[in-house]
Amino acid sequence: MLFDILTPARVLFGPGSTYRLGEETAALGRKALLVTGRESLKKTGNIERVTQPLAVSGIEVISFAEVPPEPAVDVVEAGRRRVRDEGCTVVIGAGGGSALDAAKMIAGLAHTDGPARDYLNGREVSAPGLPFIAVPTTAGSGSELTRTAVLVDPETGRKQSVRSDYWMARTVVADPILTMSMPRSLTAQTGMDAFTHAVEAYTSRWATPYTNALSREAVRLIAQNFYTACHHPGRRDARESMLLGSGLAGMALNTARAGAVHALAHPVGVRYGLGHGVVCGVLLPYVVEFNMAVVEDKYAQLARTIGVAQADASDSEAAGRFHHFVVRLAARLEFPEKLGSLGLTREDIPELVEAALGSASLAANPRKATHADLTAILERNL
Ligand SMILES: [Fe+2]
Repeated sequence: MLFDILTPARVLFGPGSTYRLGEETAALGRKALLVTGRESLKKTGNIERVTQPLAVSGIEVISFAEVPPEPAVDVVEAGRRRVRDEGCTVVIGAGGGSALDAAKMIAGLAHTDGPARDYLNGREVSAPGLPFIAVPTTAGSGSELTRTAVLVDPETGRKQSVRSDYWMARTVVADPILTMSMPRSLTAQTGMDAFTHAVEAYTSRWATPYTNALSREAVRLIAQNFYTACHHPGRRDARESMLLGSGLAGMALNTARAGAVHALAHPVGVRYGLGHGVVCGVLLPYVVEFNMAVVEDKYAQLARTIGVAQADASDSEAAGRFHHFVVRLAARLEFPEKLGSLGLTREDIPELVEAALGSASLAANPRKATHADLTAILERNL
């Protein structure tokens, strides 16, 4: 057995852990660029939860509240300029996956040469950047625990993943209180992203005993707390389990990577302007069915883990129950059954498949998916 593990230096988990953000930041730098979305932190009151501890510790904060949903790499360029102009010594990302990904890349490229876009297109990151602190406010992307950032290349319109071992957060502050103000639709979408990460990491070609332990527990936590978090948003226990689940899934994803759902979800999401979690939720049942012949035993284990199959059920029966669970989950979250209802057209399929074929996620899918296979999956979605 041979595998690498890459984890952040420090994870502070639990209700109220944001109080420790000031002292944690002070250990890394005195002047922080705070990278957030444009409005959500203000609307939810989370901005005070983040800035107060920083003020108490005497950290000078430069606000960069400019990350849009599905950000293009231009925002990284702007953030990098701000870091340099202001002389920031640490970068804090607070928000959902988009804000964390942008902050991660701003920190990682703070002192590098050349346009940020070059790195999105394969230029190697050869040196560490500024220390990066991640404060997630959604339970979904798991970005706080990965070395990956996903941004859109404005020239090609493609969503690209870029990763560097240097880009792991130095400190993660994972406070479920910050996730409690998410509305139901965002809880459903981000939760489905996390659930898909967990399932895809578990069945990945690159899964290891380490990632399997994380992803299996992530599937259990999310499956057993999803409805409560959606329908009883004030239930702190459910919010805590969802944030823990999304984080464990992120840690698994970091080395196991994802699969065909993510390979297709990126181009589809960009093409039709759809939330990433919704696209994952619609596609997951189709990909589970496609992979069934190769990883039936793994789906069966997941079914037993979440309690939808008896311990003595055969693999084929248990895996079938897992597929049924995934279909029902998407339906109960009110996701459509097909991408066709979200805009997918037959004419767009060749281009979407082409974009998916080049993705690193596809290489991790347990069953080799050809051009024809991906085309068939999308055609069933019309
Ligand atoms: Fe995802």
